[in-house]
Amino acid sequence: MEELQKAARVAFASEYSFLLKSQNFHWNVEGPDFLQYHDLFGKIYEEVQDSIDDFAENIRKLGAYTPASFQKFSMLAVVDDENNILDKTAMVAELLEDSLKMVKVLKLTFQRSDEFQEYGFSDFIAGRMDAHRKHQWMLRSSLKNG
Ligand SMILES: [Fe+2]
Repeated sequence: MEELQKAARVAFASEYSFLLKSQNFHWNVEGPDFLQYHDLFGKIYEEVQDSIDDFAENIRKLGAYTPASFQKFSMLAVVDDENNILDKTAMVAELLEDSLKMVKVLKLTFQRSDEFQEYGFSDFIAGRMDAHRKHQWMLRSSLKNG
């Protein structure tokens, strides 16, 4: 169970970092097609934000404490902060890379969850994987001919 709790905490910290990164890009993107990218990043962060409370509570349901500080997030997350202001294409490419990292960490968490027969949690994690696949589709499509 400890391996599952650890994987879940890493996945949650990564998801929170992914949320912050999408907000960072939503707030700071610039260019003549500002609104298009502002909305793309906005759509992504809103989807993640809607899931974050359930994610945190699911970790409590597994009997673990939910990481809930910037220090813990940076210790655990596989998604790194972006401290520079990037151009819009670099933002899209970076968020796509981060989303691929998310699917990797979610997949590992799903496997652990199934090992411990925590099927309710597996179901939640499968939903997060699917949501990231959708983000990837939108990000990848925005990069085409860009
Ligand atoms: Fe906004």
